[in-house]
Amino acid sequence: MIKLINLTKLYRGLRAVDRINLKIEKGVCFGFLGPNGAGKTTTIRMMAGVLKPTEGQIIINGHDLSKEPSAAKQCVGFIPDRPFMYEKLTGLEFLHFVAGLYGLDSASMLDRRIGDLLGLFELKHWEEELIESYSHGMKQRLIMCAALIHQPKVLIVDEPMVGLDPKGARLVKNIFREQAAKGTTLFMSTHSLEVAEEVCEEIAIIQEGRIIARGTAGELREQAGMDGNLEDIFLRLTQGEG
Ligand SMILES: Nc1ncnc2c1ncn2[C@@H]1O[C@H](COP(=O)(O)OP(=O)(O)OP(=O)(O)O)[C@@H](O)[C@H]1O
Ligand SMILES: [Mg+2]
Repeated sequence: MIKLINLTKLYRGLRAVDRINLKIEKGVCFGFLGPNGAGKTTTIRMMAGVLKPTEGQIIINGHDLSKEPSAAKQCVGFIPDRPFMYEKLTGLEFLHFVAGLYGLDSASMLDRRIGDLLGLFELKHWEEELIESYSHGMKQRLIMCAALIHQPKVLIVDEPMVGLDPKGARLVKNIFREQAAKGTTLFMSTHSLEVAEEVCEEIAIIQEGRIIARGTAGELREQAGMDGNLEDIFLRLTQGEG
């Protein structure tokens, strides 16, 4: 469960995120859309605990992120838009390193978990290779393994599909849906309305830091007062066009 209450971030007078209120139930896959510079990454970085809100509250599975940061962060897997990885490590070494950060010990349970994740993301074949030799899509899939290593109840992802080929995108979409079916709450930003419609039960559109629309893809169509394709609906909602 994720709850954002009056969440606000000011950058020298600029209201990058402006009093956002959202409640996302357990097991829901939630899509966060909006034009460039709307405030998606800023919101996500606050939710992941890497950026401090100017005002407002973030509740993750009942834990207030500012009051119980470790308990809240333990529930979260975070996949940033520009992840940092130690590229001189192999995929396997990197996952063991991340497991260590979460205090998971390297017993056989962990080896199995890492093996399962590498299999799931089709990286098993490259586990002994240095990350610097991975393609963009492989790095993207490895960072997803790392974010899932501690079996988080909430997965927060900033533009997961960027740079993935159709096969990789399909794989990731399926994994996200499976995670949600298992009760993981998913919050993902994307520019692709098709992806949002395919994967997410609920969508919110943010513009200039504010939520301007929220609902299922069907409800957004209604709100835009048009049938058409999702791109037109998005433009109508964000620019009054169409
Ligand atoms: N560190 C920062 N200092 C000052 N302003 C910032 C900073 N980070 C973001 N901003 C501003 O905050 C606003 C929201 O940016 P943000 O990165 O959250 O947008 P976004 O919705 O993720 O956009 P995109 O779709 O391009 O990724 C923008 O106007 C941006 O210039
Ligand atoms: Mg962004």
